[in-house]
Amino acid sequence: MKNQLELILKNAETDLEKAQSINDIEEIKLKYLSRKGELNSIKKNLKDLSDEDKRVVGAFANEIAQKLETEVKSKYEEFYKKELDEKLKCEKIDVTLPGKSIPMGKIHPITQTINEITEIFHTLGFTVAPDKNSPEVETEYYHFDGLNFPKDHPARDMQDTFYTTLAPNVILRGQTSGAQVRVMEEMKPPIRIIAPGRVYRNENVNSRKNNFFHQIEGLYVDKNVSFSDLKGILNEFLRLYFGASRPTRFRSSFFPFTEPSVEIDVQCIMCQGKGCRTCSGTGWLEILGAGMVDVNVLKGVGIDPEVYSGFAFGMGVERLAMLKYAIDDIRLFFNNDERFLKQF
Ligand code: PHE
Repeated sequence: MKNQLELILKNAETDLEKAQSINDIEEIKLKYLSRKGELNSIKKNLKDLSDEDKRVVGAFANEIAQKLETEVKSKYEEFYKKELDEKLKCEKIDVTLPGKSIPMGKIHPITQTINEITEIFHTLGFTVAPDKNSPEVETEYYHFDGLNFPKDHPARDMQDTFYTTLAPNVILRGQTSGAQVRVMEEMKPPIRIIAPGRVYRNENVNSRKNNFFHQIEGLYVDKNVSFSDLKGILNEFLRLYFGASRPTRFRSSFFPFTEPSVEIDVQCIMCQGKGCRTCSGTGWLEILGAGMVDVNVLKGVGIDPEVYSGFAFGMGVERLAMLKYAIDDIRLFFNNDERFLKQF
């Protein structure tokens, strides 16, 4: 029996010698050391021996088992370390590598500006007019006639209107003011709306002019609306958009659809009013036209000017964005250069 035990140890040691992996070691453990393994089956035969032999052979069997266990354990550790090293080598992660960035879209600065201005007018009690009241393709009626432009008024050329081939009276709008007429045709006062949108003018493109741009039209009609309401609302808008410290000024002006009419200038941000290329040396940039809705316009939409009055305004979105972010070329908004757009 002692010989048998020694043989088992020898075989087990040869197997260990040949082992290539943790898996092989597991098999050896199973073959020799498990409950159904070879050492245990010998121990089962101990019961047939004399007490003295039981003690001696039993002790020897335990010794062999312990020896084998130690050897198996050290072999196991050796392979474990080796396999772990290999795994680490091929699965190495370099935490200093830069991450892969997921490209994220951004809202265009013009849309951002429109959203910001819309937000401000919300707080002043204005809502956005339905889109159908502010179409980009407009008829001469809403664009000129309904706004009190006489048939042969030079202002019809003044805005360098794009005519279409759809019909002689169908044009691409050059101002959002047509929305005033459409809204007043459909709504009864009190009316307090804004209408943002794109307009088109046949201009030579340069750093200050593009042949399309964006405006936000505003209209407030109710009983007892006066010029001081116009000044109050627009001054509050300027304060909320530019902050209190930006110099602004009202200048008298003319529009066929408002009387009296004004324009608002904002101090040029490029030169702080000293005069530069952007403001043509004046130190100021015009950002909006406004005025009290002309009596003829009210009559045209069936609103009684004896009962109601109102004011309207139209502002240039690109100008407002340029004056806030110190952008000196309007074309930057439309070239879609990522280096520019990313900054907003
Ligand atoms: N529509 C005018 C323009 O484009 C601006 C304006 C709007 C003036 C409303 C008065 C009232 O210049």
